[in-house]
Amino acid sequence: MFITFEGGEGTGKTTLIQSIKELLSSKYDVVTTREPGGSKIAEAIRDIILNPKYLGVTPYTEALLLAASRAQHLDEVIIPALSNHKIVLCDRYLDSSLAYQGYARNLGFDFVLAINDYATKHMPDLTFYIDLDPEVGIKRISHRDKYDRLDQETKDFHLNVRKGYQEIAKLYPNRIITIDGSQTLDAIIREMIHIIENKL
Ligand code: TYD
Repeated sequence: MFITFEGGEGTGKTTLIQSIKELLSSKYDVVTTREPGGSKIAEAIRDIILNPKYLGVTPYTEALLLAASRAQHLDEVIIPALSNHKIVLCDRYLDSSLAYQGYARNLGFDFVLAINDYATKHMPDLTFYIDLDPEVGIKRISHRDKYDRLDQETKDFHLNVRKGYQEIAKLYPNRIITIDGSQTLDAIIREMIHIIENKL
């Protein structure tokens, strides 16, 4: 089973994925991974995408680099794990490209789907979209001493990312479950585990 976790900045995805892994690991073989990155080559591409020293990366280049890192990550990590009947929990996937590059960067969903043709053949069985006011999310991560190139985007950009996700959730209602990100992490974990166990 391939499960992805989506949402804006500061939605707690990393903590949620760790807790869900621990809860499922007693019964199942679980692999956790993330995008952009997840394998050596994909992490090297991640550095070009996110490192603030590459401020000049243009929207098209950004979208293409993300698609390249996803292709590598699929071949090296996701597809082998699924073939070995593992549960894959992935922090971000194609929906991030649809929301950030397709919607917020205005490249359009069709373009993002076209350059991610390989990923569209390996879609998640289940996606949790954690919906949260970006102002709350950004405040939650404000204590971090490291900001990446996308964290540094404007408030309007992050508001558009949220609008993008809400559109995508409407387009794929059978796959994407919207979770209210203003709940406590414990409540979110309970809700997610309930949904996953029902699907397994
Ligand atoms: P990360 O530090 O993993 O952020 P977070 O903790 O918020 O998940 O950085 C990933 C950043 O890359 C995040 O700002 C979203 C962005 N991103 C895209 O713009 N498009 C994509 O396809 C992916 C996978 C990530």
